[in-house]
Amino acid sequence: MSALRTLSVDLGERSYPVVVGRGARHALRTLMPQGVRRIAVVTQANVPDALIPTFEGVEVHHFTIGDGEAHKSLETIQDLMRGFARAGLTRSDCVLGVGGGLVTDVAGFAAASYHRGIAVAHVATTLLAMVDAAIGGKTGVNIPEGKNLVGAFWQPCAVVCDTEALDTLPESEDRCGRGEMAKYHFIVREDLSALSLEDRIAECIRIKAEVVAGDERESGRRALLNYGHTLAHAIEVNSNWSIAHGEAVVIGLVYAAHLANVMGRIDERRVTEHYAVVQGTYGLSATLSDGFDDDALVASMKRDKKAVTSLTFVLDSSDGLEVVEGISEVHIREALTAHRRYGVSS
Ligand code: GLY
Repeated sequence: MSALRTLSVDLGERSYPVVVGRGARHALRTLMPQGVRRIAVVTQANVPDALIPTFEGVEVHHFTIGDGEAHKSLETIQDLMRGFARAGLTRSDCVLGVGGGLVTDVAGFAAASYHRGIAVAHVATTLLAMVDAAIGGKTGVNIPEGKNLVGAFWQPCAVVCDTEALDTLPESEDRCGRGEMAKYHFIVREDLSALSLEDRIAECIRIKAEVVAGDERESGRRALLNYGHTLAHAIEVNSNWSIAHGEAVVIGLVYAAHLANVMGRIDERRVTEHYAVVQGTYGLSATLSDGFDDDALVASMKRDKKAVTSLTFVLDSSDGLEVVEGISEVHIREALTAHRRYGVSS
């Protein structure tokens, strides 16, 4: 095992470690809660068995959930609940999510709901789960009306980000993780590209842990972690989940820059900087397809969780990111047009 580093999400008595590095999964044995007699491993068929830690002296039950956003559903939660009950899981046992963001969101919500809440730990096996989904206690599932509309804040007792998992990560998953990583450049307004991949993962976790520690339930600054996500979630839903979350976030990041520009909050140069990070540093495509119906995108964005009374976005400004409410639909539509036209010579 190479050197591991341990970061912390500081939430008082609910604080927990995040261990990063090659072979980090083995560190989990010493991080499970005292007195656990059963562990319910929630994973997917495409997660290599080698990434699932082994435990001695406890009963381990395996639950495999389906792949794809359609399986991030209340039906999956019900199947897990019934499986946990049949396996005899009690309040002093633990759920272990082993996989990407879909697994950690679903395993976390199942743990939050079963017996009104039992312990959960995660082995993050994708870049996206490592830098975002597995950290911070947001759990949940989709309903046909929107992404992540049902869920709970439920902090894990430990997270391990085993970078060995990245050796075999499919290109599409790698792209999604790079999309979420790009987001952090705009949150801290720093160029993280000089860092090695492992250092960058640790830095993204450090930034996220610091934000979550200061605003666990998203009453303020935590909303900035949703930069790019308002359009992203609308794209995911309206593409019938054929565009993956991280890919949609990339489109959402540059769209948010266009919207801020249309509203006079940032200049063209800052829009170009957004493209430079996502396309240049991370090699990702930010093209917004003509295939999306703008009315449908706007309707989805109105259902976003941030939109309590009006269309609400995280937007850039000369002072950095902030949550902006009461955005006019005219600006939203103008920015969709500006995004589609960007870089298209007339
Ligand atoms: N993924 C955004 C958050 O955890 O707040």
